[in-house]
Amino acid sequence: MKSIDVLLAVLANGWVVSAVLWKDSISRNTTDILRKRYRDEKTQKFSTVFNSRKPSLTSNPASKPFYITLPLDHFTTSNTDTFQSRYYVQDSYYQPGGPVIFHDIGESSIERYAPGLVDEEEFTVSMAKRFNGLLILFEHRFYGESAPLTEVSRALGDASKEGLTAFFKYLTIEQALEDVVVFANNFTYDFQSYPSQKLTPEYTPWVYVGVSYSGARGAWLAKRNPGLFKATLASSAPVELKVDFWEYFVAIEANLAASGNTNCSADLAAAAAWLSQAWETQNETLVDKLIDTVYQADWENYISQFRNQDDPRIWDTRRDYMQDAAWTAFADFQYYGVQGGTLGKFCDIMETAYSDNAPAEGLFATESLDRAVAGYTKAVAAINPYSYSRSARNKAKLKQKRQSSKLDSSLDDYAWLWQVCSEFGAFQVANTSRPQNMLPSFINVAAQIDQCIGTFGESDQVSLAGPNVSPINQKYLGWNIELSNTLWTNGEFDPWRALSIDSTTEDAPTNDTSTTEIPQCGTTFPRGTQLRYVIVDGYHGSEFSEDVVENADDIGLNPTNTIGGISASRRVTLTSTGTGTPVADARNAQSLWFNAMSTWLPCGTQVFTFTSPQPSSSTPFKTRSSYSTDGPSTDGSTTEGLTTDGSTTSNPSRQSSSPSENKTQSAASLVLPPLMNLFMLSLFAFLTGVGFIL
Ligand SMILES: *[C@@H]1O[C@H](CO)[C@@H](O)[C@H](O)[C@H]1NC(C)=O
Ligand SMILES: *[C@@H]1O[C@H](CO)[C@@H](O)[C@H](O)[C@H]1NC(C)=O
Ligand SMILES: *[C@@H]1O[C@H](CO)[C@@H](O)[C@H](O)[C@H]1NC(C)=O
Ligand SMILES: *[C@@H]1O[C@H](CO)[C@@H](O)[C@H](O)[C@H]1NC(C)=O
Ligand SMILES: *[C@@H]1O[C@H](CO)[C@@H](O)[C@H](O)[C@H]1NC(C)=O
Ligand SMILES: *[C@@H]1O[C@H](CO)[C@@H](O)[C@H](O)[C@H]1NC(C)=O
Repeated sequence: MKSIDVLLAVLANGWVVSAVLWKDSISRNTTDILRKRYRDEKTQKFSTVFNSRKPSLTSNPASKPFYITLPLDHFTTSNTDTFQSRYYVQDSYYQPGGPVIFHDIGESSIERYAPGLVDEEEFTVSMAKRFNGLLILFEHRFYGESAPLTEVSRALGDASKEGLTAFFKYLTIEQALEDVVVFANNFTYDFQSYPSQKLTPEYTPWVYVGVSYSGARGAWLAKRNPGLFKATLASSAPVELKVDFWEYFVAIEANLAASGNTNCSADLAAAAAWLSQAWETQNETLVDKLIDTVYQADWENYISQFRNQDDPRIWDTRRDYMQDAAWTAFADFQYYGVQGGTLGKFCDIMETAYSDNAPAEGLFATESLDRAVAGYTKAVAAINPYSYSRSARNKAKLKQKRQSSKLDSSLDDYAWLWQVCSEFGAFQVANTSRPQNMLPSFINVAAQIDQCIGTFGESDQVSLAGPNVSPINQKYLGWNIELSNTLWTNGEFDPWRALSIDSTTEDAPTNDTSTTEIPQCGTTFPRGTQLRYVIVDGYHGSEFSEDVVENADDIGLNPTNTIGGISASRRVTLTSTGTGTPVADARNAQSLWFNAMSTWLPCGTQVFTFTSPQPSSSTPFKTRSSYSTDGPSTDGSTTEGLTTDGSTTSNPSRQSSSPSENKTQSAASLVLPPLMNLFMLSLFAFLTGVGFIL
């Protein structure tokens, strides 16, 4: 293989990028826990200390998971199969009369969040502390350990498409919502220090806390089962499901503009156009330089299998690498934004590739194409974990192997891919009719549907028609949903805001109003008005990334309509931690939530609703026609319906990469070389501060 000038240039510069975090799904995943751990190591302050004022906090709840048996199928009586759902309980702060605080993690194993249960600066822990609550960390069905143990779930990579489809049949939004209802209505807990308490929602106020997909779950539950929860925090909740989610990038563009990086925007758009063209014309001249530089060993191994260097499968592989490369700049944007995250570093590396004085118009406008692409490649290589050596990656992989569970370690990846492919959609894709577009044209909906079918085959649930987002949108009214006893929060620059109740996209509702007034018990808002807060400079779930520093005594438990700390002029000034973007206004969102809890918890069993209760039911599967590539889809869904693809993971190829391993029958686009899970690598790099190991 030609070995590369650009690579040498990168090595000579010795870029060390240790804080690269990859986003594998829309959930917060471990990011913030890791952030905190890293921060604490740096500052010599270990925050997961036991509470000195609470001597009972001697055993770590993380060491003691609980399990509840739940029906696999809630909606037919003929199926009596069950599975065990895992949860953790933090009882140190509980006092009789306190609420149950139900923290729903959504599409991830809860194991990684459990250590946070003894961290008093965690937002949810501080809720338990202030309100004498019992904190529950709940695992969604088919994630972590909360799945049936079958031949398929032991070795997902070896399962047939039919096997996978049969296994994931009951992983639906409705089934998973009903899990929460049954869990709450059957919940009991043995306290050491108190006689057993009646803890079901009939006797004890329940509080729902969720971010992202789990934030949307909270909203859906509030509509579906009004009164089950007395207070709901729906944080960064994408309640409007949409297949073609090109709008994901609008917030990134806005943040680049707001931080004075128009040269970088221009170059990312130019790089996307170049990648599109290279794919369309199958011109490998510069593409192979990029791939060689970033993916060296993987690429060389893969390509060496082919006698014929014109084998068309090689271009499929090139496309996967190009897709991965194109995502590099945006990998952690939704948590860190431009300044605190990868994108800012990426821009700096690219724009100063040839001169300390970054050109205002960008590289593609001022340099030859070769040199501009080399600058772009340099930035990709500096950031992308594939540039780490193979041994470092293998070590990271080993370290991440799940020890305890007999379930396949990639269950979470498969489960989320299934949800995205069947019901959730939100493919983060290119929209090449926009000049600002920053993704290559081959990251489109059609390609993503191909990947879905390549992994799961065609079925009622995964089909050529694409994810069936309309039943959930119709049942819960998407972003027209109206809820009482719910606080909606969103981040100003969170890409997911575009699918939220605070969306500013063109088609978003305009007949609604937000307020930060909290209604007293027994009163409601006028129709169309809801309690909403957009965190200034905020990102995805920002109020969960911030430590809660306010003194618990600041806020009493009396119902109040005043909103402590919320005012444009009074913003907390934070000192930078150096490992992310601190969002000062997130503290105000936290205060608003504490005040909302204070107001709503004493309301007892009184429920205010706008709409009458909806009966629980399963979503029927209907045969649908293929995803339309030239107009709105025929099933009346809210999708805009043009060709494009991507996935809800920040990197479509990464998401499908593990499912595709060992799958020779998969679609061509899935015939990837053995790509490792990048998150694992970056996790390793993050914890150990490894930059390049070469
Ligand atoms: C979360 O992180 C793990 C690695 O720790 C990764 O395997 C997984 O794909 C990520 N995403 C989800 C949805 O769990
Ligand atoms: C659990 O709760 C559901 C209601 O959601 C109820 O139908 C069921 O009987 C309960 N099971 C037990 C064992 O209490
Ligand atoms: C391929 O790309 C190179 C470099 O960008 C360019 O010089 C060449 O003309 C291209 N060839 C074709 C056939 O487009
Ligand atoms: C150009 O890029 C550099 C480095 O990222 C940045 O500091 C500068 O603000 C940018 N200038 C413009 C005009 O975009
Ligand atoms: C706003 O308009 C949408 C679409 O017409 C409608 O469904 C919704 O009920 C309206 N909301 C209010 C508060 O009037
Ligand atoms: C792409 O963006 C244009 C301009 O904003 C918009 O009109 C069009 O609907 C978008 N394409 C899709 C597929 O949504």
